[in-house]
Amino acid sequence: MRGLGLGPGWPLVRAATLEVRPSHQNAMTKDELKRAVAAAAVGFVMPGEILGVGTGSTVDFFIDALAVAKVPVPAAVSSSERSTRRLEACGIRVVDLNEVTEISVYVDGADEIDPGFSMIKGGGGALTREKIVAAVARTFVCIADGSKLVERLGSFPLPVEVIPMARQYVMRELQRLGGTPRLRAGFMTDNGNVIVDVLGLRIDEPQKLEQRIDGIAGVVTNGLFARRGADVLLLGTPDGVRESRRV
Ligand code: 5RP
Repeated sequence: MRGLGLGPGWPLVRAATLEVRPSHQNAMTKDELKRAVAAAAVGFVMPGEILGVGTGSTVDFFIDALAVAKVPVPAAVSSSERSTRRLEACGIRVVDLNEVTEISVYVDGADEIDPGFSMIKGGGGALTREKIVAAVARTFVCIADGSKLVERLGSFPLPVEVIPMARQYVMRELQRLGGTPRLRAGFMTDNGNVIVDVLGLRIDEPQKLEQRIDGIAGVVTNGLFARRGADVLLLGTPDGVRESRRV
């Protein structure tokens, strides 16, 4: 394995390349990059151990790759109805989180990830269940195409899951934090709640902001994954899949 020298923005991580290389460099679509990281993530799955599975298009590719690789996992804990349907369609048993005490690895995508491995998640609206499964897992493997890596979180609107009756109050509070909240139209989470997407937040200290927003009455979860960030990042680039670890 060879160091990538990712530069001064990567003080917390050790980086190494995987032997996953595109056959036609510089011409990969976003979906091809997602497929490549999804395939690489299969190598992190522990045979015989319960797997945690996130939600999104990158995770869909991961589930497909997992089915092809036939890694013998006894069962998966899923973070959404969407992933549950796909896992079951692939013949992978899905169990309730309450039936398990340990999840070795959790594989999920991100909308943004920064050099300290804090993320914005929830573009697909599954943030609460994702945060719960991630909290139980020993290792969080984030799979993302290269466009998701940012120096600073916040260009992607921050999703916040909210109890419906608190919607207006929470939106006023989010405005007081400097953001512009917008209700995600026509969307209900798997938990029966609404999503408020917050544009224009200044995210200087992701952990503090995560805690501050979670403290607003009526907020179920917000999409900052900073207190429990990723442990491993598999990033799809035109030069192949870059593996980096939080150390
Ligand atoms: C869903 C998520 C997803 O991980 C995130 O939106 C990335 O999705 P995709 O893999 O489709 O780009 O947090 O709630």
